[in-house]
Amino acid sequence: MKIISVVGARPNFMKIAPFIKATETFNAKLEANSSQLVAHLLVHTGQHYDDRMSKAFFESLGIPEADINLGIGSGSHAEQVGNTMIAFEKVLLEEKPDWVVVVGDVNATLACSVTAKKLHIKVCHIEAGLRSGDETMPEEINRLVTDRLSDLLLIPDQLSGENLRREGVPENKIKFVGNIMIDTLESNREAASKLKIRNIIKNNLLDSSFSPLGGTKGGRASREKEAKPEINDIIQNNLLDTDSAQAFVPMQGDEGTSVPGGGKANNGYAILTMHRPSNVDEKEILSPILSFLTDEVAVDMPVIWPIHPRTQSRLKEFGLWEQAKACDNLILLHPIGYHEMLRLNMQATIMLTDSGGLQEECCVLGTPCLTLRWNTERPVTLKEHGGASVLVGNNIERIREEYQTALKLNRTPQRPELWDGQTAMRCVEAIVNYPSTGSFTSLGNR
Ligand code: UD1
Repeated sequence: MKIISVVGARPNFMKIAPFIKATETFNAKLEANSSQLVAHLLVHTGQHYDDRMSKAFFESLGIPEADINLGIGSGSHAEQVGNTMIAFEKVLLEEKPDWVVVVGDVNATLACSVTAKKLHIKVCHIEAGLRSGDETMPEEINRLVTDRLSDLLLIPDQLSGENLRREGVPENKIKFVGNIMIDTLESNREAASKLKIRNIIKNNLLDSSFSPLGGTKGGRASREKEAKPEINDIIQNNLLDTDSAQAFVPMQGDEGTSVPGGGKANNGYAILTMHRPSNVDEKEILSPILSFLTDEVAVDMPVIWPIHPRTQSRLKEFGLWEQAKACDNLILLHPIGYHEMLRLNMQATIMLTDSGGLQEECCVLGTPCLTLRWNTERPVTLKEHGGASVLVGNNIERIREEYQTALKLNRTPQRPELWDGQTAMRCVEAIVNYPSTGSFTSLGNR
């Protein structure tokens, strides 16, 4: 059986890494001439191309180099999707796979599922059934179209199954496998826990003039001595230097255990990530959020902000970049790697984010999370479903209120059903065992 799996943008990489490993583990159990052997090819559409947005994830997650890179790059949605379809069609005609596996909800997911389906190639969507109900989000369009076309819809939670059934997707196409992102979290949490927070900050500082390592000679001691005082003070004063501190690393079985959160007495630090067009593309929305950060959160604790390229461009375009840079307690970083973010998340007092993946990781790690959106396609991560996240949109009053509440919360890790680190193998088995007729219900679907 020949499978082509597709990645395009950063959030795809943590989903495909365990899938590729699972195909290898699956093959290792078979005889060399077994008809079930999976021949796997990885296609990167090239939507994300910066080293920090792409290559770094391949290296740290052990993803083999893509067999084919379509080199699509940036552009409007129509350009990205159209160019991907044209290039991917040639790959499919040449390679003739049995299946195309797409993950998540980025433009590559949509473009490649449509292209495959038009060539009568079976499509499997990992992370199917998520719905925000907000069709102004490009990702929602991508999810709707991909799920409508897919032959096999692998869902991360039961709520996603309900969405699909409501839309009339036949039962025999739906299979509950759990959340593949959590496979990656589980297999990397130990490595991440060994990273030192001060090193993550120093190695990823966006403004090198702010860096304590900039332009110095000699050993560590002399470098520290010549460092600008601000960043070292911030690190020392807010327990960021955790060389001797114990990272909170909840392991499986710890779920529901409540441990003291940071709170104001022991401020710790906040993490911020923001890249959705709805938050960053309009000055009237971005500017008050930035002011809330500089004037309120950064007064309580350092805010570590790995900045997405889109957000950085918008801040500059709107004349807000200097305000961000002038705030000592706003620590501006380049986009950081998977392990680095996981490590920061393990000990953060609070997360402010519009990322879907971080909502899920906060749920499993128990980090109080303010989701800077009015809706989410991942309701299982919300407090009302036992998760750690609360929707705050971009209304400053609401953000402030929930921020104050979150500071008083304890860290309470949760583990939704089948978020057990074993999802990738269930995905591979679902594809290999896909019945040509009949349904998964008769094969014991849950
Ligand atoms: C895309 C996904 C989004 C995902 C996000 C994670 C879609 C519709 N959106 O949004 O779901 O949450 O990735 O990052 O697929 N850029 C660079 N270097 C890069 C890539 C992009 O500088 O390697 C800049 C370009 O100026 C580009 C902008 O970032 O125009 C936005 O990139 P794009 O791929 O269009 O969408 P994202 O906002 O990253």
